[in-house]
Amino acid sequence: MNSNKEQTSLFRRKPIAEAEDKGLKRVLGALDLTTLGVGAIIGTGIFVLTGVAAAKYAGPGLVLSFLLAGIICAFAALCYSEFASTVPASGSAYTYSYTAFGEVIAWILGWDLILEYGFASAAVASGWSGYFQSLLSGFGLELPHALTSAFSPEKGTYFDVIASAITLIIAFLLTRGVKEAARANGIMVAVKLIVVLIFIGVGVFYVQPENWHPFLPFGMAGVTTGAATVFFAYIGFDAVSTAAEEVKRPQRDLPIGIIASLAICTVLYIIVSLILTGIVPYQMLNVSDPVAFAFEFVNLNGLAWIVSLGAITGITTVLLVMMYGQSRLLYSMSRDGLLSPVFSKISGKGQTPAKGTWIASIIIAIFAGFIPLGDLAELTNIGTLFAFAVVSLGIIVLRRNHPNLKKGFRVPLVPWIPIISALGCVYLMTRLAPLTWIVFFIWLFVGLLIYFAYGRNHSLLNPNRKNRDTNK
Ligand code: ALA
Repeated sequence: MNSNKEQTSLFRRKPIAEAEDKGLKRVLGALDLTTLGVGAIIGTGIFVLTGVAAAKYAGPGLVLSFLLAGIICAFAALCYSEFASTVPASGSAYTYSYTAFGEVIAWILGWDLILEYGFASAAVASGWSGYFQSLLSGFGLELPHALTSAFSPEKGTYFDVIASAITLIIAFLLTRGVKEAARANGIMVAVKLIVVLIFIGVGVFYVQPENWHPFLPFGMAGVTTGAATVFFAYIGFDAVSTAAEEVKRPQRDLPIGIIASLAICTVLYIIVSLILTGIVPYQMLNVSDPVAFAFEFVNLNGLAWIVSLGAITGITTVLLVMMYGQSRLLYSMSRDGLLSPVFSKISGKGQTPAKGTWIASIIIAIFAGFIPLGDLAELTNIGTLFAFAVVSLGIIVLRRNHPNLKKGFRVPLVPWIPIISALGCVYLMTRLAPLTWIVFFIWLFVGLLIYFAYGRNHSLLNPNRKNRDTNK
């Protein structure tokens, strides 16, 4: 960044050194990161969306949908790993693109990730609500029908009060401090893994192979649309990189954490989807708690109850990580001057960006209450796929702009793997509904308006910027 012209450019870049160390304690190792990743990944995707994806799109071919989405994520994970070990700073893909592509692209990506984390949190809360209500009904407790699900007057539902409430409860926990939340996270991840293993270990004995015929009732088109839906189940491995500033040996541990957590989840998903469609005829899986439903279907009601409890616990960890990720992202963008300082103002007992967390959480709670899970998941997916595509191409740019950079992990076969990854992501995006695309474009357009009205002038990289309190 040497000339004034460069500094006022839309593509002004953050130096890599500046994106590094902010003085946080480096305490996390590869195992912690893998736990964090699994905690962020296994949730509403496998526990809820598998049902609708099997019933509406893929049938028993759901396993192929998981395989396809998993392969595309693996390519993207390699690219994330190289960035994470090269630019070990919080803020994840937003920070990477600030160093690789420059400010305006970083802003677009950051704004896109706000969409991803926001809608993902709302979707995950909605999945939580489904399992919680099935647990309540086990005790004979029912909410008034109008408050059981998102706005859908033809079904007589208007607001998912539980989804909205859990979002606010998690916001409260996050503003109390992350240490407590992180401690609870480890235990909840273990519970979730045990429940998935119980489902596999017991469910395998109830598989009726005739349920797998026909294997592709909706053809390959159904499999690919299914992949664009269940892609949601893989989101979260990128969250590992948000912890970059707290990792002991980021160059080595971040790639291990990202790749290991994705690999573990891919294997589990493939087995779970085979067993699920083997136990229940796929047409019957369009319910809000398909994994527990599978056990009810074969009269294992006690185990169904345990699965529901485990799913609720597991989905909670995803919600924690997603909402935490969003507050960290807003914090990073605000710290860079691109968003209002309210998002980086540290306050309260927990010493967290409490005000910003509450603002974002209230919006998420409203979305979680009104918008159906399927739509929330699609919006999350389009935002995430876009981010993965940009990060993948970012590797090619990073290698060109910084050929001598010390790196821990290098993607093999560059530029081919980043190109395949980006094409795979764009392909899955094309499988999403037109309405999802329209909302996505409106979101990006509003984002650009905000950037030109606010961020561009207030950016820390703007040499003409007026001094202000940044809370740094
Ligand atoms: N992968 C996360 C889930 O399935 C977002 O809930």
